[in-house]
Amino acid sequence: MSCILHLDSSSRGSRSISRALTKEFVARWLQIHPGDRVTYRDVGQYPVPPVDEAWIAASFSKSEDLAPELASALSVSDELIDELLIADRYVFGIPMYNFSISANFKAYIDQIVRVNRTFTSDWQGLVKNKKMLIITTRGGSYSDASSNQLDFQEPYLRTVFEFIGITDITFIHAENLTMGDESRQQSLREAHIAIQNLVAIW
Ligand SMILES: Cc1cc2nc3c(=O)[nH]c(=O)nc-3n(C[C@H](O)[C@H](O)[C@H](O)COP(=O)(O)O)c2cc1C
Repeated sequence: MSCILHLDSSSRGSRSISRALTKEFVARWLQIHPGDRVTYRDVGQYPVPPVDEAWIAASFSKSEDLAPELASALSVSDELIDELLIADRYVFGIPMYNFSISANFKAYIDQIVRVNRTFTSDWQGLVKNKKMLIITTRGGSYSDASSNQLDFQEPYLRTVFEFIGITDITFIHAENLTMGDESRQQSLREAHIAIQNLVAIW
């Protein structure tokens, strides 16, 4: 039995395509694995705070030396990291914003990438034996050699998640979503097929 962390990061609600695709994947997954547990986190519509000076001071202090006001600076981070560590599979919906990720999702990353919790002081990842699916949505396309250079989303996400120990990462990219109805429909058909295929083997 797996514990899945299902996370969305679009700032849009019902119009969000990444939300629809992660929801589809999780629903199909549960049809095959009805006993699995799903925790849901929405950092798009319920953003987590950016890290601040107290957070930084607290995260680099020994826990036994922490004054109460500094310990409370890490409470959101603790909750998010506990949630991450308990899960063994991740299904994340991450739209491309300005060639990379949204500020809301970056705030989430800053909260979970923390020394002695998700990586060691000599840069070993502590989030081990996990599987991650990232479904991205993009207005344009970044799959050919020239446009690929503008993709600061997948390389960044691979780097930061591998840094904390998550190395088994699958991407499904839904592209060309703002390039006209025909391109969007074609891209969505491909995304649905990719989801169906992955559910069977993930
Ligand atoms: C603030 C913002 C920035 C965006 N930047 C890009 C971009 O750099 N490249 C791109 O291909 N699409 C970009 N888009 C388009 C989105 O990736 C696309 O609309 C996607 O469907 C959004 O995900 P969602 O449907 O889950 O909300 C941007 C959209 C927004 C709102």
